[in-house]
Amino acid sequence: MDRILVLDLGGQYDQLIARRVRAQHVYAEILPYGGISPREIRERGYRGVILTGGPDSVYDKDAPRCSPEILKAGVPVLGICYGCQLMAYLAGGTVGPAEGGGEFGKTALTVEPAALFAGVPRESKCWMSHTDRIAAPPPGFRVVASTPACPCAAIADESGTLWGVQFHPEVTHTRFGSEMLRNFLFNVCSCAGDWRMESFITSSVLRWKRELAGRRVLLALSGGVDSAVTAVLLHRAVGNALTCVFVDHGLLRLGEGDLVEKTFRETYGIPLIRVNAAERFLRRLKGVVDPEQKRRIIGEEFVRVFEEAAAKLGEPDVLAQGTIYPDVVESGKGGAAVIKSHHNVGGLPADAAFRSIAEPLRDLFKDEVREVGRQLGLPAALVDRQPFPGPGLAVRVIGEVTEERLEILRGADAVFCGEIEKAGLTEICSQYFAVLTDLRSVGVMGDARTYGLTAALRCVTTDDFMTADWTRLPWEVLEKAGSRIVNEIPGINRVVYDVTSKPPATVEWE
Ligand code: XMP
Repeated sequence: MDRILVLDLGGQYDQLIARRVRAQHVYAEILPYGGISPREIRERGYRGVILTGGPDSVYDKDAPRCSPEILKAGVPVLGICYGCQLMAYLAGGTVGPAEGGGEFGKTALTVEPAALFAGVPRESKCWMSHTDRIAAPPPGFRVVASTPACPCAAIADESGTLWGVQFHPEVTHTRFGSEMLRNFLFNVCSCAGDWRMESFITSSVLRWKRELAGRRVLLALSGGVDSAVTAVLLHRAVGNALTCVFVDHGLLRLGEGDLVEKTFRETYGIPLIRVNAAERFLRRLKGVVDPEQKRRIIGEEFVRVFEEAAAKLGEPDVLAQGTIYPDVVESGKGGAAVIKSHHNVGGLPADAAFRSIAEPLRDLFKDEVREVGRQLGLPAALVDRQPFPGPGLAVRVIGEVTEERLEILRGADAVFCGEIEKAGLTEICSQYFAVLTDLRSVGVMGDARTYGLTAALRCVTTDDFMTADWTRLPWEVLEKAGSRIVNEIPGINRVVYDVTSKPPATVEWE
């Protein structure tokens, strides 16, 4: 399998670049710029290297700089934005501030005949975001593209091995960006393009069958996509040597716990221990209203319940985790521990007595994990599941969490989610749910005065959950959901829709 190395120089697009490469069926890995030597690049057999963008100027004292030897390793290199300036600088060219302070947004691009631009029209549009630019290309390089403000928008060396583009081919605003990446992968790096999810599944099952032979494996199943796919994949590899522990903290949505249990135990025949710990969690949450305290208690209690279950099983020696690639990359960036504290289930014990960790999904992005899930036959309800916070509905019940209030929230949430799904809006709604506020207000139903609770409906559209826009849902959907909730869910007499984006609000209310 061919591999491309994406060297991260501090830009925001490292993961996007890797995903674009993988979309062409070429496997891409991200490493920090100082994380590998030119010799290792050669020895590990990378087909090509991509230097990412970054916010620095190559002349800054602490600017990220990789070794100039990378350009001499005989492996093709594509520098993007800052990566292109760095390539020019390392090869003896000059970089300087762009006229007018820089160039941001879509701009006209003119390309010359070159392998990187095969099939790309001479005139098109590209996406720019830079303050510096190449003032003079290095000796032995030619200019192969220009924009009105950047006469040297792309460079190539004589051998056709080193390429630099000032613009961002990974961003869809660059009209022919994917053609350019494809040209780099196939024309310059001669990749085969044979990375497929089917081959990932086959090789992963073989690998874990070998590595886990004769050992007992434990997995904390949360019902989320990552742990669900991990479970099915590992079960294929080791069969009943895998045991899943599903801690039901009683803070799940309507029918969720049963769906998880049924799917894994009945459909897949995976040994599953469901620990019904709702009472324990509720006991500890009694009287607690502070959001952070709720999270802390749930995290601690989760670890305890999980450890007790593991001890009963006689301490299996391998802990499987649903770590995915963005977790690995983020850990590397902060120099944090490699073993992920599984945020989705509240944090597993870092000092547990497991001899090793198995993380079969650690090379995959979320959309790739979903694809593996689909190919393994997991139901859409699990594979396409929206994110759900580890502390569950406890952070959607404002104020004290009680069984009665959870019951009210589950009902309202099921009605709202059902209406969105019925209206066919799931593609534009990234996350949607109901919140039970602690606000009471006066209403009238039939002839009687009511003094009931207010439910808030939240629906957001986002790519990454770092920022999010509130979704402009059709009035009819809101009307139907609002009136059904008041009519069908005892205890609620008022429904409001949350029209705040993130920032300044967050997606969750607590
Ligand atoms: P916020 O509320 O921070 O949420 O804007 C962003 C995304 O993260 C989810 N979220 C969590 N996920 N454990 C999780 O696994 C948590 O404690 C947690 N808190 C928030 C939230 O649902 C949204 O998708």
